[in-house]
Amino acid sequence: MYYIGVDLGTSAVKLLLMEGSGKIANVVSREYPLYFPHPGWSEQKPEDWYEQTMAGMEELLQGFDRSQVAGISFGGQMHGLVILDSQDNVIRPAILWNDGRTSVENDYLNNVIGRETLSAYTANISFTGFTASKLLWVKKNEPENFARIEKIMLPKDYLAYKLTGVHCTDVSDASGMLLFDVKNRCWSKQMCEICSVKESQLARIYESYEAVGCVLPAIAGKLGIPQTVKVAAGAGDNAAAAVGTGTVGEGMCNISLGTSGTIFISSEHFSVDKHNALHAFAHADGHYHLMGCMLSAASCNKWWMDEIIGTKEYAKEQAAIGKLGENHVFFLPYLMGERSPHNDPDARGTFIGMTMDTTRADMTQAVLEGVAFALRDSFEVAKSLGIKIERTKICGGGAKSPLWKKIIANVMNIKVDVIESEEGPGYGGAMLAAVACGEYASVKEAAEKLVKVVDTVDPDPALALKYETRYQQFKQIYPTVKELFPILK
Ligand code: XUL
Repeated sequence: MYYIGVDLGTSAVKLLLMEGSGKIANVVSREYPLYFPHPGWSEQKPEDWYEQTMAGMEELLQGFDRSQVAGISFGGQMHGLVILDSQDNVIRPAILWNDGRTSVENDYLNNVIGRETLSAYTANISFTGFTASKLLWVKKNEPENFARIEKIMLPKDYLAYKLTGVHCTDVSDASGMLLFDVKNRCWSKQMCEICSVKESQLARIYESYEAVGCVLPAIAGKLGIPQTVKVAAGAGDNAAAAVGTGTVGEGMCNISLGTSGTIFISSEHFSVDKHNALHAFAHADGHYHLMGCMLSAASCNKWWMDEIIGTKEYAKEQAAIGKLGENHVFFLPYLMGERSPHNDPDARGTFIGMTMDTTRADMTQAVLEGVAFALRDSFEVAKSLGIKIERTKICGGGAKSPLWKKIIANVMNIKVDVIESEEGPGYGGAMLAAVACGEYASVKEAAEKLVKVVDTVDPDPALALKYETRYQQFKQIYPTVKELFPILK
């Protein structure tokens, strides 16, 4: 049998066809536009996601026996606000996870409703990218749109709805809305009230590996797949990536170097850190996780290469990098503001430390190192909670660079396990579909049977020591310059 994993990303949708044995039979990718209507705002059209997903599925299945497709599921960019009217039409473009427009609403939630109250209701505080503050923003700034809302959805849930006709979501993605009681895995009545939302406007909640239904006959006909194909609820992209890298069960870690950068720690038990610096979310394996999320990771490298130095030859640029751990240039990777741990939508990208002998390679290196240092900021929060992490998996576009993996291993001073497939969310999505179809008894069993570590990058003690010094320097930059960012707007 075949299982399709749909990774609904920010730059593209990546689709993966997996055999029941876990072997990847095909992968295709389709891009769609990302709109920045104002600095710090970020939007996409849900209709584009659907169109490109359907076109991608057609391409994915070419040459394969379509009658053998059994299940479809997702890993989707999280937190995006998709609103539908009474005819299930999209009311306005989706406001994405890296959109920073909701400072006022975010401050209201955190300071007027209060962090402690939010944490008691949801296990989290508000961040500008989370969905609740966006609802308040629409209510205030687009009251005519707010009045038309019949359904509130997350990005991948819009795809599930288009494929099945069911308004559904899953526990991991719902966790990032700030409308969800993470510990008890249900909508929070109090948060619904605070955000002027009726529970009937929210989707039905499923565990990530549960089937929400079968594909609609029209979809089955269009794609030439059986009408019995099951659609599983799927997960937020980070939880799906964690499944795809085998980061399930107690105390496992995964780093994702995609448009965003995340550090994801799985746990069998619910926990929340008292400062809420890390997100406390439900996991796709039926348990929980903690996560730190930086808003620009591999996207910093892409921006530097494509926009600034104007090249597509990433590997060639990285090959010119000489001395690791000795760079005097630092980069703050806050091109879209920053979430974890600073929670500062006004933060901006910053280079500091250049001299007349600074080279292009030093600048490229600073970008890669800046992302690694900023990830370590979240890692430090996890360590301060007493969580011991000696090794991590890694996935995402940035994980294709051996140099970046080496920098991460040494900046964090942990072992980085490289797995056979770097297709984190897509592979995880296909695995969730396989569990929903009964091919595997549980997410844990699927992870144990399918995910294989093929290499490990060990930190080098001398280099890790050099990076320790550099990290201590990096740590001082943001607090020193942060007062400037609001003035520079
Ligand atoms: C996680 C987050 C991002 C997006 C990226 O909280 O906002 O990782 O899910 O797609």
